[in-house]
This record gives sequence, C-alpha cells and structure tokens, in this order.
Amino acid sequence: MNKNSEKISGWKRFLKSMTKAKEIENEEDIMLDHDYDGIKELDNVLPPWWLAGFYITIAISIFYYTQVFFNSEKYSQAKEYATEVAEGKAAIEQYKKEHPELFDDSNIVALTDDENIAKGKELFNTKTCTACHLADLGGSIGPNLTDNTWINGENGGVKDIYTVITKGGRPGKGMIAWESTISREERIQLASYIISMQGSTPANPKAPEGDIIWPKE
Ligand code: HEC
Repeated sequence: MNKNSEKISGWKRFLKSMTKAKEIENEEDIMLDHDYDGIKELDNVLPPWWLAGFYITIAISIFYYTQVFFNSEKYSQAKEYATEVAEGKAAIEQYKKEHPELFDDSNIVALTDDENIAKGKELFNTKTCTACHLADLGGSIGPNLTDNTWINGENGGVKDIYTVITKGGRPGKGMIAWESTISREERIQLASYIISMQGSTPANPKAPEGDIIWPKE
C-alpha cells in the first residue's frame, strides 16, 4: 500500500465514522419489510455528523435559556440598550466639547473672508431669500437688510441675524425658520453675507423697520 492510498483509506474511514452508512453490499441487513409498489426502505442510523449538530443546538439552547432567563442581571436587552444609548450620548457630548464652534451658538462670529461671503451671496440667491428681500437686499415683502434698523433680536449683530434665519421672524410675518432646510454653516454664511452688505445702497430701499439700531451710528 503506498502513502497515497493510505491517505485515501484514512479519509474514507473518517467519512464512514461520520456517516455510519452501510456498505452497499450489505444493504440487505437493514432493508425494511415494507414494499411500496416495489419501492423499499433502508433503516439507516442517523448520521453521527448530523446528530452532533443536533446535540450542539440542544446544548446551546440550554445555555441561552439559562443566561436569558436566570442571568438577566448580566444579559438584559433593556440594559444593553440603556448602556449603548448612554455611551452614544457621552460620545455626542465629547464631540460637542471638542468642536464648540459647531454647536455653541453663543460664540458665533461673522465670517469676513471672500470665500464665505461669496458662498453666503450664492445661498441668498438660491435659497429664495431674494424673493422677499430682493437681490440687492433692499427689501419688498421682507425688510431692507442693508440699513441699520432691525425688527428681531436684542442688540442686533451676527447672532441676532443668525437667530432670525434659524428660528424665523415674528409669527405670521412670512420669515420662516430655515433650521431644517439650511445647514448651520450655511446659515452663518448667510448672516455673514448680510452683514457684509451693511450700508450698501439698494436701488429701491424699503423704509427702515424695527427699533433695534445696529451698528450704532
Ligand atoms: C416669504 C418671504 C421671505 C423669504 C423667502 C425670506 N424672508 Fe427673511 N424676512 C421676511 C419677513 C416678512 C421678515 C420680517 C419678519 C418680522 O417682521 O419679524 C424677514 C426678516 C428677515 C431678517 C431679520 C430682519 C429684521 O429686521 O429683523 C433676516 C436677517 C432675514 N429675513 C433673512 C432672510 C434670509 C437669509 C432668507 C433666505 C434664507 C430669507 N430671509 C427669506 C420674509 C422673507
């Protein structure tokens, strides 16, 4: 017997031990008596590979059952959920701490570089702002945004302008909240653009509206 055939017979032995199949020559031994119109049945044993899988699932189910129902201190879905939510919230807080400029509206400053002002102008023209404030910001349905009188806010300035764009003007006046449709960064760019237009001279400026004077003369 050469090495190769030894290997093959080893493999065959393994297969046999996993299947316990009766050799075809000895099939007669396990033939059942039934005869269904010439079709006969062999009474093979359940193959060991299959039985092993079956026993493993039983063992796993017992383990699972005891862990879920008798060890709920450790394996509780509600707890897992709460832990993950808490971790997620902590991660958000951490991110907010690391990027205050993205979340903390109290330290917004007007951008002055050309790129952001150009972006603000583009947004003003594409986000329908011009429909009510006109392209030169002189005002029509909405107020003139180039003069130094303001209706909304407290002291005027970038934070007030940003807040009106974010939260909208007085109820029923037509200035909606843009929070959900324009990103925070873009709202800052819009506010910065409006500030950059302070003191410009629109073709048909609407009369000043509002009690807030900013910038003060
Ligand atoms: C449907 C018309 C309309 C559109 C569109 C509109 N606005 Fe207004 N806007 C108004 C009106 C009306 C007011 C005055 C609100 C009030 O009286 O409280 C206003 C007020 C403002 C103010 C505050 C002015 C003040 O004196 O308090 C700013 C800033 C402003 N709009 C910016 C924008 C920007 C930026 C856009 C585009 C994203 C925009 N608006 C789109 C109608 C509009």
